Amino acid sequence: MKPLPHPTIHPSVQHFLHGGDYNPDQWLEMPEIIDQDMRLMPLANVNVVSLGIFSWAMLEPAEGVYTLDWLAQIMDRLHQTGVQVVLATPSGSKPAWLAQKYPETLRVSNQRVRLRYGARHNHCFTSPIYRAKVQAINHQLAERFKNHPALVLWHISNEMDGDCHCPLCQEAFRAWLKQRYGTLAELNRKWYTTFWGHCFNDWEQVESPHPFPSGLCSIIAHQVDWKRFVSDQTVSFLKDEIKPLREITPHVPISTNLHPGGMNNLDGWKMAAELDVVGWDSYPYWHHATSDVAEAQQAAFYFDLNRGLKRQPFLLMESAPGTAQWQPPNVYKFPGVNKLTSLQAVAHGSDSVMYFQWRKGRGSYEQFHGAVVDHCGHEHTLVFRDVADTGKALQDLLPVLGAHTAAKVAIYWDWNNLWTEETAAGPIQGGQQARQTAINHYRAFWNLGIPVDLVGPHTPLDGYTLLLAPMLYMTTPEVAERFHRFVEAGGSLVTTYWSGIVDDNSLCHLGGFPGPLRATLGLWVEMTDAPIHVANTLVPAKDNALGLNATRAAHTICDLLHVEGAQVLASYGQNWYAGWPCLTCHDVGQGQAYYLGTRTDGDFLADFYGALSRKLGLRRDLDGQWPEGVSVRKRSAEGRDFVFLMNFNNAPAVVTWQEPALQVNLLAAAGGPLKGRIELPAYGMAVLATAAKG
Ligand code: GLA
Ligand code: ZN
Repeated sequence: MKPLPHPTIHPSVQHFLHGGDYNPDQWLEMPEIIDQDMRLMPLANVNVVSLGIFSWAMLEPAEGVYTLDWLAQIMDRLHQTGVQVVLATPSGSKPAWLAQKYPETLRVSNQRVRLRYGARHNHCFTSPIYRAKVQAINHQLAERFKNHPALVLWHISNEMDGDCHCPLCQEAFRAWLKQRYGTLAELNRKWYTTFWGHCFNDWEQVESPHPFPSGLCSIIAHQVDWKRFVSDQTVSFLKDEIKPLREITPHVPISTNLHPGGMNNLDGWKMAAELDVVGWDSYPYWHHATSDVAEAQQAAFYFDLNRGLKRQPFLLMESAPGTAQWQPPNVYKFPGVNKLTSLQAVAHGSDSVMYFQWRKGRGSYEQFHGAVVDHCGHEHTLVFRDVADTGKALQDLLPVLGAHTAAKVAIYWDWNNLWTEETAAGPIQGGQQARQTAINHYRAFWNLGIPVDLVGPHTPLDGYTLLLAPMLYMTTPEVAERFHRFVEAGGSLVTTYWSGIVDDNSLCHLGGFPGPLRATLGLWVEMTDAPIHVANTLVPAKDNALGLNATRAAHTICDLLHVEGAQVLASYGQNWYAGWPCLTCHDVGQGQAYYLGTRTDGDFLADFYGALSRKLGLRRDLDGQWPEGVSVRKRSAEGRDFVFLMNFNNAPAVVTWQEPALQVNLLAAAGGPLKGRIELPAYGMAVLATAAKG
């Protein structure tokens, strides 16, 4: 029995959401533009808009004076047009009067400079007055629109991000530290303040890290704790925003739009816990310096992360129709790519395709950002046709709505580890790139067509066959214990160099690395070398258990390790440490723990994960053949499989498969049953399906 699809976000959303950011407040003096919008939205197959994201100044032009009628009229008209509304809370950009009257709501930079009014995302997330003002406008919006038939989702603020170093935030930071450490003595111990004699003996001496002229803040744990505090304080702000909405509109689910930059600074697991549905903004750099395939892989990784945050479908909340205006440079997408990049999100679990923005504004910073409707104001444009076509495709894909993805491979993703690792000084100045390393390991599975879930500190691990935790620099005894139990119970774990080094206060594990993972991995790492200008090789051991036989490059980071029960699968081939092990496997209970002690390229990761996947019997999403650069992803619902075939090459690609039941291409208007072969055009795609039941 296959599981039923996930419920949709709202009972009135029985379709893929398709639409985007709509800013009618920029056009209120030109009502004919609004008329045009109502004519054009159905033509573009748009069924939803995100409204009011930056409308605070128009909704509350003076303190306590609320002017919501224009918004109500727009919502009524949208409803009449058959367009649903994702209604935003406007906290992402405050009115000038608010900044003028309450300057403490403006952010203070890390150099302790109060920012001036003039850009969005410029608020102190601690300021009680700002929180109160946000709650007041949110209350007004909720009361006014609680029964509006168009309202299907709340969109909290916009791409929450950034920090504030004002006195209020300093106070809140100290309170957060007191909560974490209890006493100053404990803080000194955990922060290791005896280093350079930076011991504190009065809480008032503790403040947020400052960018010192030498660029050095000596206390690493201090910097990491600030990142944690900023994330927690953002979540606390989010919770305050949500309060009036939960009270007044308990039937309306809540989301926000996360994005990669902001996601680096926020603990996505904690953010997602407050939301009903995860929303994500995706802006890949198509046709830029990195290959389109590499961009597609990275986008796929983030889509899977967003699906993982709540283990349910997410929403693609923003993407650029055509081009952005902020990329260096802004390259128009090749034919097919608008649809391909949109439906790639769906393949990975999105139940929407949404854009920034519906219509190009006339002025200001984003006037040249791509939009469904250009300054010409009509539907006869490349972008408009692409969008309409994508909307039509979403209608054809209706059976996929809410469908599951079933992965047996998991990548462990913990923001605390990333922040801790990024802040460490060594072994490479400028960082070891833990984030990119995880993505590089992910690429191997993308190429194989084997689905991957991203899992976090609280995601149950049972049900997974293979768990990847590359560069788990920060390893707490609890995580090590969880991983050990996972392996004992028959799981396979892969971790790498620069794992098990510190605890959650950036204090090194004593007694030998990889600290609490040492027994699980059956080895001891004596040294992590960074010979970035010295090439080396990884040479598989004769008759190794995985059947690896190709010598591959080993570079950048090289561990010198001693096995303590682990088998050696490969060793270095060159230089003074030729012969030292660099790939090992340790049997623990019913499972195996693998350790890769050096950085390699994609060719080795393909060998390694290919062999491991065969050994573990991991299923690909399609039993077939396809060339490099083609991505295969499956979603399933009610006993039906939907296999997305996506060609990210600028050349046609042939895909063949052995599953006779996959006979239909949901994206093809007509045509007889498929017989295990399809040719995809350059940047083309298909969605194979088994026949509908009954
Ligand atoms: C972000 C923001 C939008 C807009 C787009 C432009 O995603 O959320 O308001 O600025 O970028 O790409
Ligand atoms: Zn502040």
